Amino acid sequence: MAIQLFMPTFHTEECISEIKECLDKGWTGLGYKTVLFEEKWKEFSSMPYAHFLNSATVGLHLAIKIFKSENNWNEEDEVISTPITFVSTNHAIGYEGLKVVFADVDEYLCIDPVDIKKKITERTKAILYVGLGGNTGRYKEIVEICKEHKLKLILDASHMVGTRLDGEIVGRDADAVIYSFQAVKNLPTADSGMLCFMEEKYDALARQYSWLGINKDTYSRANDDSTYKWKYDVNYLGYKYHGNSIMASIGMVQLKYIEQDNAYRRQIARWYDDGFSKYAHKIKVIPTANGCESSRHLYIISVENRDGLLKHLNDNDIYPGVHYRDNTEYPMYSYAKGSCPNAHRLSNSVLSLPLHLRLTRSEIETVIKAVIQYISR
Ligand SMILES: Cc1ncc(COP(=O)(O)O)c(C=O)c1O
Repeated sequence: MAIQLFMPTFHTEECISEIKECLDKGWTGLGYKTVLFEEKWKEFSSMPYAHFLNSATVGLHLAIKIFKSENNWNEEDEVISTPITFVSTNHAIGYEGLKVVFADVDEYLCIDPVDIKKKITERTKAILYVGLGGNTGRYKEIVEICKEHKLKLILDASHMVGTRLDGEIVGRDADAVIYSFQAVKNLPTADSGMLCFMEEKYDALARQYSWLGINKDTYSRANDDSTYKWKYDVNYLGYKYHGNSIMASIGMVQLKYIEQDNAYRRQIARWYDDGFSKYAHKIKVIPTANGCESSRHLYIISVENRDGLLKHLNDNDIYPGVHYRDNTEYPMYSYAKGSCPNAHRLSNSVLSLPLHLRLTRSEIETVIKAVIQYISR
């Protein structure tokens, strides 16, 4: 059977039973399970606020939008970000007319604090940090840089559900943390995400922006008075970004199993580590940062002839992935081409090996064997 990069596992019966409650009650939209999921998420993540949305992409956009409007950032102000990410991260900056300034990546494939320092200008307003594959990289140094230069820190934690640094879920020292519960993430729904601000005022604004700018407080007050049942205020040009109770139902069930799921992901990573330990001269495993207990969304290696290895694995019915192409190679970000040599080099050599909960030890051994066979010839 083919060995795929990702293949999500759902606790189907439990998910169906949660969803059935929504259907029986006639409440599938915003509210009800979305509120319950937000509460469960806060308990799990220790974030003070959590707003359930229909994706991480929109969460990233709202974080940028709200910080921009509340802190008087101007068009063309700059946000430092990584070239090794899914485009959502960087598009979120562009949606608000801000400029993406790319900093190079380090050995963890996360942005390098040394290069960040070189790229800070008087127009820099924030750093958007991605914990690639669940890795924390040099996150603590980034926190310090943000403090020193009074920059907002936005953590794209799309891969980091359950990642701990020195024993604690990462992100309380950021200004906003965004998680993805997209179909193949560690906590898969179909599509949804969570936006966690550290300050109540930003969370309250996000709740208006994510529902067309409608102020729900005025809505519920109006509903107390039967004369004005239909009345609510619209304060902003908002969006249809909020999550719904069907996705929240799935999310709540999946959340119950996230620790055991991540433990198995880490076990898979250890099998890969053991399998490649004697081949360090040819297979460079992207290391996990000290103190990081990674969610292990990805297991990434770097090899010389990556495309050849990719083909060899495909010929053996094994389907790895590439995370990611250097974003400065995309036409729309080509103004930054050449600004991140490590990212450029690594983007041509990295490969993400199959990693999901349905994989058995013997399938991992099959992948290891096929990789070693290719690099040894
Ligand atoms: C690093 C990163 N950021 C953001 C996103 C966007 O997540 P979503 O699909 O939930 O919008 C993804 C999803 O693939 C991602 O990998």
